[in-house]
Amino acid sequence: MTDAAVQTPVRIDAERPADAASVEALVMAAFGPGRFAKTAERIREHAAVAAGFVAREDGRVIGAVRLWSITVGDRPALFLGPITVSADSRRSGLGADLVQACVDHAGETGILLVGDAPYFGRFGFRHAPEARLQGPVDRRRVLWLGRDEPAGAVHPA
Ligand SMILES: CC(C)(COP(=O)(O)OP(=O)(O)OC[C@H]1O[C@@H](n2cnc3c(N)ncnc32)[C@H](O)[C@@H]1OP(=O)(O)O)[C@@H](O)C(=O)NCCC(=O)NCCS
Repeated sequence: MTDAAVQTPVRIDAERPADAASVEALVMAAFGPGRFAKTAERIREHAAVAAGFVAREDGRVIGAVRLWSITVGDRPALFLGPITVSADSRRSGLGADLVQACVDHAGETGILLVGDAPYFGRFGFRHAPEARLQGPVDRRRVLWLGRDEPAGAVHPA
């Protein structure tokens, strides 16, 4: 039997309240305290969580992502992030599975994020320079998946 055959399968689940501390630990390990200075964090401080998903192996949380309720201009949308997979579980498709869970949840609603185009481009995210976040942000990292490029101020909802 190969090692791969005895590995526990990883499940993508809805995040539960009891996962919050594990998710926080993963995010802190990936981004450090510097994340609190980010403009994206200002949105998350005030927005409602619309959904959260975790990758679970043997009951242990090894990946996580959240979606937040926002508006872009007068249009309801979702803000994705942070997304993180534990360092020893990367490059096996879990990040893609977490993004896909978000896309499935969003349905017709557009998703905005601040992230790396080389990673998110593979899921169809495109630059959205007309979506204006309230704070310093590299416009090239503002990305959108959905119908019609969004325009206007981004606010928590
Ligand atoms: C980004 C992240 C969630 C991806 O998780 P993952 O489970 O490794 O993702 P996948 O297995 O679906 O994809 C891995 C591929 O994405 C690439 N990749 C990962 N991060 C990338 C990035 N920031 N830019 C471009 N490519 C990236 C990997 O090199 C790998 O490439 P390969 O398929 O050619 O080997 C994970 O690397 C992570 O937690 N990073 C630290 C937190 C972070 O930076 N999050 C935000 C990213 S903008």
